[in-house]
Amino acid sequence: MNPGLDAADMASMDPPSYVSERGGKFLLIWPDRPSWMVVDREAYGLIEGKRWMENEELTKGLIQAGVLMREPTKEEEKRIGTVTINITDRCNLKCIMCYTTVRKKSRKELTTPEFIDFLEQTSEFTSDRAFLLILGGEPLMVPEKTLKVSERALDLGLKPTISTNGTLVTDEFAEKAKALDLDVQVSIDGATSNTNDAIRGKGSFEKAWQGVKKLKDHGVHVTLCMVMQRSNEDELEKYYELAHNAGVNEVRFIPLQRVGKGREMVNEIVDPLSMVKRAYKLLLEHEEYRKMSKRDFFTLLGNRCLACAKMRYCGTGMFTILCNANGDVYPCTNHGIPEFMAGNVREKTVSEMWNGSVFERLRSLYDIDRLNPCSKCTVRYWCSGGCRGEAYSVSGRFNSPSPDCGSTRKAIIEMFWILAEHPELVSLSPLKTLDLI
Ligand SMILES: C[S@@+](CC[C@H](N)C(=O)[O-])C[C@H]1O[C@@H](n2cnc3c(N)ncnc32)[C@H](O)[C@@H]1O
Ligand code: SF4
Ligand code: SF4
Repeated sequence: MNPGLDAADMASMDPPSYVSERGGKFLLIWPDRPSWMVVDREAYGLIEGKRWMENEELTKGLIQAGVLMREPTKEEEKRIGTVTINITDRCNLKCIMCYTTVRKKSRKELTTPEFIDFLEQTSEFTSDRAFLLILGGEPLMVPEKTLKVSERALDLGLKPTISTNGTLVTDEFAEKAKALDLDVQVSIDGATSNTNDAIRGKGSFEKAWQGVKKLKDHGVHVTLCMVMQRSNEDELEKYYELAHNAGVNEVRFIPLQRVGKGREMVNEIVDPLSMVKRAYKLLLEHEEYRKMSKRDFFTLLGNRCLACAKMRYCGTGMFTILCNANGDVYPCTNHGIPEFMAGNVREKTVSEMWNGSVFERLRSLYDIDRLNPCSKCTVRYWCSGGCRGEAYSVSGRFNSPSPDCGSTRKAIIEMFWILAEHPELVSLSPLKTLDLI
C-alpha cells in the first residue's frame, strides 16, 4: 500500500511515458513515480484516456503497483542497512579478479575491542534488521576475532554474515558459528575444480568444498557465492545442482566488478541482461532451486523492480559504511578512493564521519536526479546508476553512467515482463539495497 495516497493524487496521475507491447499485453512505465504495470489492451485504453476510475480492479492494481506513492524523507533514506568490516587484510589466496589485492596492506590492524567500539558507535545509525558483513582479506585468518566481533554484533541487533574462501574452516570454527547462528558465505567460482582453480588458485575447489561439508555437518547456514564470469557462466546450473545436493541453504551469483584487479578483466564481464536471462531460464525449469535464491543478482534486481521505491542512490554512503582493517572508514567496498576516506576510527567518531562533509558530498554527487544522462532515463529509480564505485573505477569520473548502462536498462525492462508473467520466480529478499558482495 502507498502511504499518503489521496483523491488529489489520483486525479493528478500522469499517463505512462514508456509503453511496450508483447503478445497483446502492454508494459507501462511511470519513470518519475517510479512505477510499472503490465495490462491488457482494455485497461491500457482506460489508463490512456484517464478513465481508470471506471474500473475498480484496475484502480486497486494501480495503487498496489505504486503508481502513487510518497517519497521517503532524507532522514528515512539515510539509515545504514549494511555495515561492512574488512577484519583483516591478510589472505591465503590470490584470486585473479579480487578487488582487494591491489590494496596496500595495513601496518596496524584494529584489535577486537576497536572493531567492537566501531560497531557500537555505528549501531546508532543502523536500520532495524541491518546486516554486518565481515570480509577481508580472509576472515578465517583471524577466526577468534571474527567470532567475537560477530557475537557483539548480534547483541547490537546486527545479523552477521561472514564471507570466506572456505579453505581454512575447522570443526572448532564451524561449531562456534553454529552456536552463534551465523550465516557463512563460501566463495567458490565454478562448479568444477578446473574452472574454480583457474580463478582462485590450485587446490582451492577441493579445500573449499571440505569447508562447506564441515560447516554443513555442524548445521551452519551456508551460502555459496560465485562471481559470474565468462569462464564460469555455463556452469551455473551445475553449481546450483551441487549446492542443492550438498544441502547448501542459499546460492548467490554476482557480477564481476571492474574494481581492483577486476578492472583488468573486461573480457570476462557477463552483461546484466544475459545474467537475467540465464537465471530466468534456470529458475523456470528448476522449481527446487528457487528457495535457494534470495540474494543473487536476479532476485535482488527483481526485488528492486517489485519495490517501486524512489531509489535515488546506489546505496553507497546512504545505506552502507565500511571500516577497513586499519580503521579507515569509507562508504563501501568499491569506494576505496582516497577522496572518500572519511577518517580513521582511531581519530574520529563514527557520528563525525557519517554526518561529516565527505559522506555528505558523496550523497549529493550521487543523487540520480543530478547525473547525466541518468536523470532523464526511464528506469533510473530502479537502476540508480549502477555501482557508482565501479563507474568511477572505469571512467575516473563521478558522474558517468554505469559501464553496463545499455544492458542494465534492457535487464530491468525484461525483469518487469518476467515479474508480470512469473512472479513466483522472485522470492522476497531480506535486503533493502542491491548489495552485490
Ligand atoms: C574480497 S572477498 C573477502 C572475503 C573472502 N576472502 C572471500 O573470498 O569470500 C569478498 C567477496 O568479493 C568477491 N570479489 C572479489 N573480487 C571481486 C570483483 N572484482 N567483483 C565482484 N566480486 C568480487 C569474492 O569472490 C568474495 O565473494
Ligand atoms: S577474493 Fe577473498 S580469497 Fe580471493 S584473494 Fe580476495 S580476499 Fe582472498
Ligand atoms: S546507468 Fe543507464 S540505465 Fe542506469 S539510470 Fe543511468 S542511464 Fe539509466
